[in-house]
Amino acid sequence: MEKTNLDKNIFIYPMPVTLLGTKKGETANFMTLGWLTRVNANPPLLAVGVNREHLTNELIRENKTFSINYPSANMVKKVDHCGLISGRKEDKSLSFTVEYGELETAPLIQECKLSLECELLDIYEMVTNDLFIGEIIASHADESILTHGKPDMGKLNPLLLTMPDNHYWTVGEKVGKAWNIGRELNKQD
Ligand SMILES: Cc1cc2nc3c(=O)[nH]c(=O)nc-3n(C[C@H](O)[C@H](O)[C@H](O)COP(=O)(O)O)c2cc1C
Repeated sequence: MEKTNLDKNIFIYPMPVTLLGTKKGETANFMTLGWLTRVNANPPLLAVGVNREHLTNELIRENKTFSINYPSANMVKKVDHCGLISGRKEDKSLSFTVEYGELETAPLIQECKLSLECELLDIYEMVTNDLFIGEIIASHADESILTHGKPDMGKLNPLLLTMPDNHYWTVGEKVGKAWNIGRELNKQD
């Protein structure tokens, strides 16, 4: 793997549409995922909401590992395709170059310039979906998306999802510095 190992305690905002990777026998499966959030600072934990009918749900339970891959906007067709068809019907891994990092059962997409490897920590069973809590154990980034060693969303150009109009977007203009611009409104400093 030619990517740079970043700190595993990595924060990635906004929360873009991602591809959740799982090992499927000798190959891999990738599912489009909108329901992803960071849920703990240290250890670095994230949660993904996956419908119980999806093959991905079965494969996370089987392998107890998974990957989160951040596609750039030019991958939009492949991203949508992975959300339209199940790995039970088609080998979706054929759309990508698959590689592995530290875990043997968390397939990564080489074309995605940022990827995380996760170990399953817990499962919260909902009505139709399960919330899988994963610990990020490694993160990998292509040099081309880094600024001062950190992921730069302007360079990654990730995909965002809006509903109910169901569209993919790219990130727009910066409008203010976070934890900073609101200080003007503080009554005291
Ligand atoms: C934009 C988009 C976002 C999606 N987000 C989720 C999600 O967060 N959770 C989920 O369970 N399914 C989500 N889906 C649906 C799955 O990706 C889809 O049902 C997929 O075919 C399941 O694949 P699998 O059976 O190979 O696991 C999404 C689909 C699209 C197009």
